Amino acid sequence: LAIGGGTAVAVNFRETAPAAASATMFLGPDGQVDRSRATRSLLSTAVPGSVAGLALAQRCYGRLPLAQVMAPAIRLAAQGFPVSRELGDSLAAAAPRLQADPVSRSLFLPPPVPGTVLRQGELAASLRRIAAEGERGFYTGPVADALVGAMERGGGLITHGDLRAYRAQLVRPLRREFRGHPVLTMPPPGGGLTLLQLLGILEPFDLAATGLNSAASLHPMAEAMNLAYRDRNALLGDPDQVPVPVERLLSPAHLDRLRRRIDPQRHTPAPALEAAAATEGTNTTHLSVADRQGGLAALTTTLNFPYGNGISVPGMGFLLNNEMDDFTALPGSANAFGLRQGTANAIAPGKRPLSSMAPTLVFRPDGRPWLATGSPGGSRIITTILQVLLNRMVHGLNLAGAVAAPRIHSQLWPDRIDAEEGLSPDSRRLLEAMGHGVRQAPAMGAANSVEVLAGGGSLGTVDPRRAEGPAVAE
Ligand code: DON
Repeated sequence: LAIGGGTAVAVNFRETAPAAASATMFLGPDGQVDRSRATRSLLSTAVPGSVAGLALAQRCYGRLPLAQVMAPAIRLAAQGFPVSRELGDSLAAAAPRLQADPVSRSLFLPPPVPGTVLRQGELAASLRRIAAEGERGFYTGPVADALVGAMERGGGLITHGDLRAYRAQLVRPLRREFRGHPVLTMPPPGGGLTLLQLLGILEPFDLAATGLNSAASLHPMAEAMNLAYRDRNALLGDPDQVPVPVERLLSPAHLDRLRRRIDPQRHTPAPALEAAAATEGTNTTHLSVADRQGGLAALTTTLNFPYGNGISVPGMGFLLNNEMDDFTALPGSANAFGLRQGTANAIAPGKRPLSSMAPTLVFRPDGRPWLATGSPGGSRIITTILQVLLNRMVHGLNLAGAVAAPRIHSQLWPDRIDAEEGLSPDSRRLLEAMGHGVRQAPAMGAANSVEVLAGGGSLGTVDPRRAEGPAVAE
């Protein structure tokens, strides 16, 4: 998502399901979801989109040639870089998945000791092809041959036809004002619609008066999250394939109706909300950049799990995603992030799985660019961004404080609030007294953000959290 020269645009490079995919492809003979097939097999890989998306953004909006912007990445891959403790730890954590694939094992295991140099010669060669030929260097030619060969040998579905057919899209960002500030974010299949619903439901609450991380603020936030995730689970999917009622879901009438469902004193349990819905009728990376010319960009990209399904394309030096698990494998059955989604997000050929990724830009009331933010964290992405925005815009924290403050998350199912370390014991007690289940959860999200300062210049904030994998057991 980016603005430059007064126009804002979103690049949708979400992966697509291969042409041979089907709604029931992850169900075992017992009719239940085979979680391993959905996350660790070549069937879990959707047609990759990052190369097409980044190349499209460079072609349309880049000031420098592709080969020049890719040169530092190629150099790092070819000459290597010293492994940080964080990278060493994260490879060790992913070792069971990487171990299962001989190519990944030879590339990444045993996990390098921090300080040793990690060289990726095959990756450098793949990147050089893209630098020379653009996206054709990935979707056709030797890289495509190797990827399709691995699919054919290992029971995957992606064909040359799927790779050739992949297109990234330029789309119009979703826009809504929050307290006089235009907020622009990613439309479906991205997570921005849910983010704007949350801002819309919460706008009239005087959260500044009830205070940051008090039970009186967290209760309406958690209830709003459950209501917005109910809409997400039931109604959202790839708008190119299913009708997504974007305008209705963001209309003041709908948001007012949702807000009225919030009991100020009591948590509404998930089953009660779910019943009402039926009668109505449904290792990610984020970076934020500001430049001197008023350009602002927010980019979120992912393989789904850290290191995707752990399977690498032989000879090409890169891992494959397991984004197919973001689809609904079986209505009502939880995916790796605990999301229980509906048929709008069922698997279909060429369809994009619903995502929570929601790169977001905020403007000053006079229209000048102000903030770029976004986050990894699976289903927790949307609520992470919500809290960064509320902390900065409502509670008046500076950007570093807004990003660092402890966060909560709720997504209707499981029917509980996940709270990071740092929630005060009395907030927790008060929330429990209102009927909320509260679980202390690991760190959620990593909302690297940037703010354009009123007097000129910009201030970047790195989220101090370590990026975490899926919330729920793989
Ligand atoms: O698109 C989505 O919603 C997920 N594939 C994002 C996964 C993610 O953020 C994992 N990172 N922690």
